Amino acid sequence: MTIDSPPKPTISPYKHHVLLCTGQRCGEEGAGQALYDSLWTKLKAAGIHEGPERTKFNSVNCFGACKGGPVMCVQPQGIWYYNVTPANLDLIIAEHLVGDQAVQELVFHQSPEASDSAQRGSAG
Ligand code: FES
Repeated sequence: MTIDSPPKPTISPYKHHVLLCTGQRCGEEGAGQALYDSLWTKLKAAGIHEGPERTKFNSVNCFGACKGGPVMCVQPQGIWYYNVTPANLDLIIAEHLVGDQAVQELVFHQSPEASDSAQRGSAG
């Protein structure tokens, strides 16, 4: 018997996946959306917009962590940032997405695996 299924989705290679909250409850109205709208230009300027080093990005309506935003999660490390202002986003891009070092002063939560990695001396 053959199971009729739709075509399997595909995703181009990437190094990091940024999930940015564009909801209204974790930051000033429109702040998350403005950041999201700037992401492509910023990632392109940093040279991480294509190829295996690229940063994939998507918006999220709410993470259920509605304080001190905009809030952003970087996968696959599971590192969660708060207070992602335009200047702090530039810092996260330079230090984490390009330099593979989490910006600890902006981190409010990490997956257990990220914590283990940080204790071994590498947060990225
Ligand atoms: S609205 Fe951003 S985390 Fe809830």
